[in-house]
Amino acid sequence: MNKGAPSAGGEDVADRGAPQEGDEEAKIHLRVVDHAGASHMLEALDGWRAMEVIRDWGVGIKAECGGACACGGCHVYIDPAWTQRLHPPSDEEIERLDECYGVEANSRLCCQILMTPDLDGLTLTLAPGSEPE
Ligand code: FES
Repeated sequence: MNKGAPSAGGEDVADRGAPQEGDEEAKIHLRVVDHAGASHMLEALDGWRAMEVIRDWGVGIKAECGGACACGGCHVYIDPAWTQRLHPPSDEEIERLDECYGVEANSRLCCQILMTPDLDGLTLTLAPGSEPE
């Protein structure tokens, strides 16, 4: 048997290599530090909300309103290296943040952050008050 042969599906996993620019399968990654301090590197898709990535990968987050900017349960702290790379918060997001606990200069609601290839590697920490009940 030829050990270098592709798998039954016709794809040799070892030959895949790193994603290339223009590669439709290029991945976007989101690094999340959870409420216990554990770090998770999560895969996202272009256009997903950061909150949806966190929730759908099973990292606990309250996010009761499902992304409607109505609950504040997706409060996160953005890594300082990334704060200037995000679009500014809307007036609605700022109003909702005003109702959150422990707000800092780098606070955001992660349901208002749409993942794009430019945000590959975005790092954030779940804030107090966003724990699931
Ligand atoms: S999920 Fe409710 S404000 Fe973000």
